[in-house]
Amino acid sequence: MVSPAQILAVLADGHYHSGREIADSLGSSTAAVRRNIDALVKVGLDIRDLGGHGYRLNARYRPLSRERILSCLGVQAAAVGERLHICDSVDSTNLFLLRRAEQGECLHGTICIAETQSAGRGRRGRSWVATPYANIMLSLGWQFHDDVRSVSGLSLAAAVALVRSLADFGVLGIQLKWPNDIVWQQQKLGGVLVETRHRALDGVWVVVGVGLNVYLALEHARAIEQAWTDLTRITDALVDRDCLAALVIRRLREMLEAYRCGGFGSFRDEWESLHTCQGQRVSVLRDGVTTSARVLGTTDDGALRVREEGGPIRTYYSGEISLRTTS
Ligand code: BTN
Repeated sequence: MVSPAQILAVLADGHYHSGREIADSLGSSTAAVRRNIDALVKVGLDIRDLGGHGYRLNARYRPLSRERILSCLGVQAAAVGERLHICDSVDSTNLFLLRRAEQGECLHGTICIAETQSAGRGRRGRSWVATPYANIMLSLGWQFHDDVRSVSGLSLAAAVALVRSLADFGVLGIQLKWPNDIVWQQQKLGGVLVETRHRALDGVWVVVGVGLNVYLALEHARAIEQAWTDLTRITDALVDRDCLAALVIRRLREMLEAYRCGGFGSFRDEWESLHTCQGQRVSVLRDGVTTSARVLGTTDDGALRVREEGGPIRTYYSGEISLRTTS
C-alpha cells in the first residue's frame, strides 16, 4: 500500500508529476495517489493540483533528506549516522527520546528530527507550533555523569549553539532573550527545551530539543501568542533545511562536548553579549509579582543576575521568572 511519505519522495524534486505517473512509479492506483495527496494537503502541505498537468509540491515544503543531512555533516556523519532518526510524524521529538531513555536505551548522541509534531512541547507547559515539512524540530540525547544541577545552564548554552549555527548558515544579527529564546529584531525565531531523566547508575540523561522557524504558514502562526518570525521572511530565500539541520547538529554536539568540561562558564560571555536585555532595566515577573530591576548578567551555572531597584542582587534560574524590557 502506498504511503504519503512515498508520494512526497516523488514530489520532492519540485516538478509536476501526473497522478498516473506517480501511481505507476509506486505500483499503485491513481485513486490511492489522490487519497494520499488529500491527506498531505490536510496536514498543511502546499501541493498544487493542475488537473491534467499533475501535482506539484511548493518548494518550501521539500521533505528532509537523510542522505543530504549526512553529506552536509561531512566527517561528523560517521558519529551521527545510525543514530539519526528522521520521522514523518511524532507526538514530540523530545518525548520520542525521553521514552527511549526510560526504557533503558543508551541515548548518547541519538537524534530525532520530525517533519510534524502532534504534541510539540514548548517551555512553561506551552505547546510548540510549526508548519509541517517546513521547519526544524530536532532533539538530541546526551548523557552526563554528574548530578542534575550540573546541567542547569545547558539550555542557555544550547541557545548560543543555535546562534552559532545560524551564523554558519549566513544568518547574522540573531539575539537571545532570557533564558533561551532565539530572536531576530525582538521577534521569536526559535526556542530550546531541555528535559532530563535521572537514572541511578547512569547519571543524567538530557534531551536538548530545538525548534527553529524556517517557514510558518499564517494558519499555523495564528496560534503563537507573541511576535514571531521565520528564516524565509528574514532571508527572503528558499531555506535549505538539510544543510541547516546539519549545522545545528554539529554546533549542538560541539556545545555538549565543551559543556562537559567547562559547564556554562565557557558560554557565559557569549550568552551575555547576545542577550537583548543585558544591562537593561527590566520588569521581573515572578509568581504573579512584578518588580523593577537591572540585568547584570549570568552566573557560571546559568542563573540570571539582576539588581532590584534600590535593593539587593538576586539570581534566578530559568523557569522562575520572565522578563520585560522597560527602557
Ligand atoms: C520554547 O518554548 O521556546 C521551546 C520550544 C522547543 C520546541 C522544540 S521542537 C523540537 C523539540 N520537541 C518538542 O516537543 N519541543 C522541542
